Amino acid sequence: MESSIASAPGKVILTGEHSVVYGYPAIAVALGLRCKVKASYQDEGLTIRSKDLNLIHTYSLNDLQHIEQKLTVFKKFDNIAFGAFLAMNKKPVGINLEIESEIPISSGLGSSAAVSVAAIKSISNLFEQNLIDKEISDLAYQSEIIAHGTPSGIDNSIATYGGLLKFEKGNITLNKLNFTIPLIIGNTQVQRDTKKIVKNVKDQFDHFPKIIDPILKTMGELTENAENALISGDFKKLGELLDINHGLLSSLGTSHPKLDDLIWKMRSMNVLGAKLTGAGGGGCMIAIAENINTANTISKKLNEEGYNIIVTNLSPEGVKIESN
Ligand code: MEV
Repeated sequence: MESSIASAPGKVILTGEHSVVYGYPAIAVALGLRCKVKASYQDEGLTIRSKDLNLIHTYSLNDLQHIEQKLTVFKKFDNIAFGAFLAMNKKPVGINLEIESEIPISSGLGSSAAVSVAAIKSISNLFEQNLIDKEISDLAYQSEIIAHGTPSGIDNSIATYGGLLKFEKGNITLNKLNFTIPLIIGNTQVQRDTKKIVKNVKDQFDHFPKIIDPILKTMGELTENAENALISGDFKKLGELLDINHGLLSSLGTSHPKLDDLIWKMRSMNVLGAKLTGAGGGGCMIAIAENINTANTISKKLNEEGYNIIVTNLSPEGVKIESN
């Protein structure tokens, strides 16, 4: 085999962000937006090329060993390089990786984990080593440590397995999705500072424990209901729960005028429900639509008005080989 192409999905947190930090469950789902990584042999070193970012970095064996010691080399692709190095069994084989991605970067949509997972799968297939999904997810978790320090494991798991993932007190449960729902993602393009927002919620919790604790508990209960609605295909109920979840997240101070603007615009266009996703304070919002035509009409109209909207769907598919 001369080359191998693998792809993996991005993700969104459907419900339970912030309350998950306090031990309540959160649900993440895989997206129809995917990245593709082509692995092929080259003379020496590891070259990573992103068509979308118009960027190339080549890592020597020494560079890869530096990353293992948590030393920065180029920063941008160090996490992917480290995952690839692990998939190469730390051997000095020359590998070229070409990345093409539909997943917006730095938007809380799990783009870095998806690229690591696809890179590891494509290398493992090129080596005819065929790592099982758990091994791929575990290696990608090591990449995520390079990228984020203390990752939850949500992003590498969902990029590997696809479908629906429930995260609670450090435990991950996976569930297959038997259907897709049109999902509209609005990107405010406002940079968010996850650490700062998580700290603001903690400060509020410390000031008003008797008020904030019941809100977090309600978010946990809401996530249980959302999981059941999703598994049973009750999208109307799921939409109502997304709306409530956004209200609760707003009460914790995690929304942003640009998120609220998009959410209310989409509600006025009859989505089933809409909320912020991830840390908030900027970043992305999500809405579910009754059908793909409604989703496309909303997206077209809002993109014409200058917003940044993508239509995709919830996807059952995790990492897979596209071609050899
Ligand atoms: C950020 O994507 C999700 C938060 O719940 C933080 C976390 O879970 O670490 C806000």
